[in-house]
Amino acid sequence: MKITVSSLKEKKLSKDKITMLTAYDFAYSQIIDSCGIDIILVGDSLGMVFCGYENTLPVTLDQMIYHTKAVVNGRTNSLVVIDLPFLTYHVSIERSIENAGRAIKESGAEIVKLEGGVTMAKTIKAIVDASIPVMGHIGLTPQSIHQMGGFKVQKERDKLLSDAKAVEDAGASAIVLECIPESIAKEITDSLTIPTIGIGAGKYCDGQVLVINDLIGVFDRFTPKFVKKYTNIKANIQNAVNDYINEVKSGKFPDDQHTFK
Ligand code: KIV
Repeated sequence: MKITVSSLKEKKLSKDKITMLTAYDFAYSQIIDSCGIDIILVGDSLGMVFCGYENTLPVTLDQMIYHTKAVVNGRTNSLVVIDLPFLTYHVSIERSIENAGRAIKESGAEIVKLEGGVTMAKTIKAIVDASIPVMGHIGLTPQSIHQMGGFKVQKERDKLLSDAKAVEDAGASAIVLECIPESIAKEITDSLTIPTIGIGAGKYCDGQVLVINDLIGVFDRFTPKFVKKYTNIKANIQNAVNDYINEVKSGKFPDDQHTFK
């Protein structure tokens, strides 16, 4: 069944855990959609795991739209979320609505995600008022990496609670909680009517999200504590490529089966 923005609140009410994974292209989108994932997030993490940047700051809206179009082409039932990249929703409310509108119109995604709590409440409300659903993102917000002094667990309980409440009151449909202690994530989850989706926020959130490249073991520049690697695709790819190199060099490939006579 197609997951829509309204399915998210229903899932929270029925205590059906929400599953979300990132994808950045058609093939991965098709694979994870076929497994029945609820939400595919085209995260600006693509800057790090797809492009190899140090952080997410250089990612542009055009890059986000390009990758999201490919993901939308690969999905059937999952809800597709597009991240608004750094500085596309900070300059003015008008520019934020324009950029959120471009993200949705040009990519085919159904909801935008943006980082920030109390300070972003007015922007979230304006985007929602323009009929564009928003997913919030608080706690460790990678676009503020320099201000936060690195990728660190965020532990200020009162700030986190007021950020979460501000995002809900502004009209967001769901909220990502990144890198916060489990007990605070539980308090936030219990106090909100919109679903919380955790990454490094413990088991009490209404859903979980991971970066696909982390989960399948193709990104190993660094591995945060919250990442569980479910397989080691990097080793599989290396084995296949080594076999190919050896077979080409030894003349075993191409054999008759793979040759036109
Ligand atoms: O960009 C991203 O992939 C994200 C997730 C880590 C939540 O924001």
